[in-house]
Amino acid sequence: MTGRIIGTGASCPELVWDNNKLAEMVETSDEWIRERTGIARRHIEKDRAASAMAIEAAKKAMDSCKELDAEDIGAIIVCSIAQEEVLPSVSCQIQAAIGAKNAFCFDLKAACSGFVFAYNTCIAYMNMGLIKNALIVGVEKLSSITDWTDRSSCILFGDGAGAAVITACEEDSAMMMKCDGSRGDVLTCPAGSTLIMDGQEVFKFAVRSVPEAINEVLDQKKLAKEDVDYYILHQANRRIVESVAKRLGEPIEKFPMNLEEYGNTSSASIPILLDELYRCGKLPKGSRLIMAGFGAGLSWGASYVTV
Ligand code: UT7
Repeated sequence: MTGRIIGTGASCPELVWDNNKLAEMVETSDEWIRERTGIARRHIEKDRAASAMAIEAAKKAMDSCKELDAEDIGAIIVCSIAQEEVLPSVSCQIQAAIGAKNAFCFDLKAACSGFVFAYNTCIAYMNMGLIKNALIVGVEKLSSITDWTDRSSCILFGDGAGAAVITACEEDSAMMMKCDGSRGDVLTCPAGSTLIMDGQEVFKFAVRSVPEAINEVLDQKKLAKEDVDYYILHQANRRIVESVAKRLGEPIEKFPMNLEEYGNTSSASIPILLDELYRCGKLPKGSRLIMAGFGAGLSWGASYVTV
């Protein structure tokens, strides 16, 4: 049993900070940021809580889904590292907002691997026969935990939420998840503080671990690279995506990107990208995708999903 995407939604703040705005805050330039990261802008949420973004993305995903009603959703899983409320969980708030009264709900924290970990969790429940349909939401207000005086990290991050409705389909799943807690110091955020990152170490880890993860999923699925329509990678840095494409020997056109517009939105980046592709018709029925996330923990994972 694997997952099929049958609806998507996103919520991105209206306020946009371009690179020139950041150059007024720290010693940097539009040219440096574009060249080293591919990022031109990021969306910043000043007013709404993260839960409001998550609810909007979830409602849009349910609206776009013609096959199901909210009562058909068996699980709602929200992934986030940057949302304000301790309780109730954002997933329970979404349940109330959309009327998914038959769902069990919880939030999980796996940083930029969050969406892939949440998806894999849903697939495990589907294979146990516990659920048939799930709603997965990634939401981040990274601007609230970004050190806006640190030019080596603040240029990367943005806010937003993305959601996907997933239904079980009769096809073998393929997934992997790994962590290396002994390297947790590479990317931290102490209580009440801001993100502290060794960018070069994260970069090296990503370009090594993501191709390995994708190859493991291809092997499990016995899927030839030619049969993959798109690789949907966590949107952290254009150079990371390009390096992964090169190491896999796959054309860069199979690696859609939107980080120029949104920067790195951690666990929201994969579902925001899925929503863009889904809405503009780039994911016709039968499309075969491999998603891959990586980030703090350290954590990384990949999975097969169809449309
Ligand atoms: O979701 C996972 C989260 N994290 C990531 O994905 C981060 C992955 N890493 C990266 O994206 C990159 O490492 C960065 C974009 C963070 C940094 O790029 P880099 O090519 O690794 O730059 P660097 O740290 O090697 O710095 C090169 C130079 C340094 O100056 P010197 O020592 O060569 O004189 C930095 O001080 O660039 C300087 N620098 C900057 N200059 C202008 C660092 N940040 C900036 C900046 N503007 N914003």
